[in-house]
Amino acid sequence: MSGFLDGKAVVITGGGGGIGRACALACAAEGASVVVADIGVGLAGEDPRSEVAEGVVKEIEAGGGRAVAVADSVVTMAGGERIVGSCVEAFGRIDGVVAVAGILRERMLFNMSEDEWDAVVATHLKGHFTVFRHAAAVMREQKSGALVGFTSGAFAGSVAQANYAAAKGGIVSLVRSAAAGLYRYGVTANAIAPVARTRMSANVPMELAEMGDPEDVAPMVVYLLSDRARHVTGQVYTVVGPKIAVWNQPVEVRSMYADQRWTPEQIAARLDSSVGQEPMGLIGRLEEYRRAAASGDKPNA
Ligand SMILES: NC(=O)c1ccc[n+]([C@@H]2O[C@H](COP(=O)([O-])OP(=O)(O)OC[C@H]3O[C@@H](n4cnc5c(N)ncnc54)[C@H](O)[C@@H]3O)[C@@H](O)[C@H]2O)c1
Repeated sequence: MSGFLDGKAVVITGGGGGIGRACALACAAEGASVVVADIGVGLAGEDPRSEVAEGVVKEIEAGGGRAVAVADSVVTMAGGERIVGSCVEAFGRIDGVVAVAGILRERMLFNMSEDEWDAVVATHLKGHFTVFRHAAAVMREQKSGALVGFTSGAFAGSVAQANYAAAKGGIVSLVRSAAAGLYRYGVTANAIAPVARTRMSANVPMELAEMGDPEDVAPMVVYLLSDRARHVTGQVYTVVGPKIAVWNQPVEVRSMYADQRWTPEQIAARLDSSVGQEPMGLIGRLEEYRRAAASGDKPNA
């Protein structure tokens, strides 16, 4: 035990399984007291079972660590408040929130139901807001803290995951906004875009080029929660196996100006040769997806 997080108290939502469980165990092993918040649902958010959070707490305690289980959903403000409140109640403070809870309901946009949209956006995007909101109020007073969100490479666009991709894009903007708004209070906010072998990635309808385990993601989370990362904020990091990569910050890349207000005709005449288009990373893969769909194979991502 190296004690990277000695004396800290952290919340891990979705800490009962997959990447969240690995993060909870790693934080405890590094000396943090941990709230494991998980309602133990199936991949699509169905059939809640509270035991998964308790199971991880038992694992932490068996290793000599301190943890409490909270079987509350992140989708309501009251749930987020209870999750954050139980950390302050059990451990007297809250130094970090890691929002890992998530579900999947994949469907092509033209077939997606309102319920499939709402459930995924509520769990991921609102599920970050509910815990970040309540934790930020305490961290602002403490003048310290770290928020870690979980996004996905899918935020750049995904074929049959408009709900998931939109929520994950929203999480990036939420994290950057939290980083901007909490900077003056010494509170950081960053996001991880992981790739790891879990029940969720087993469901991805393509061959992923890079793969790792949940335990590969946890050290970066520990680092971001630690005092060694107080200067790191507003960032999105991919973590997969032995690789850590940082995403670029969204900025305008080229511009063009008219003498007066543009007409559609002037735009049509100038756009291709002036600002042009930014290549969409996904576009290069769409032909591969089409070929795979026709042959019934899994496409390479
Ligand atoms: N596994 C990957 O390769 C991968 C890739 C990109 C992004 N992600 C993201 O990483 C995070 C973790 O993914 P995972 O693969 O470990 O998934 P997982 O399905 O193994 O674990 C998700 C956990 O969240 C819990 N959960 C779901 N809804 C909840 C709610 N309303 N309240 C509390 N807990 C809830 C589940 O019970 C489960 O334990 C997710 O946000 C996911 O979108 C994962």
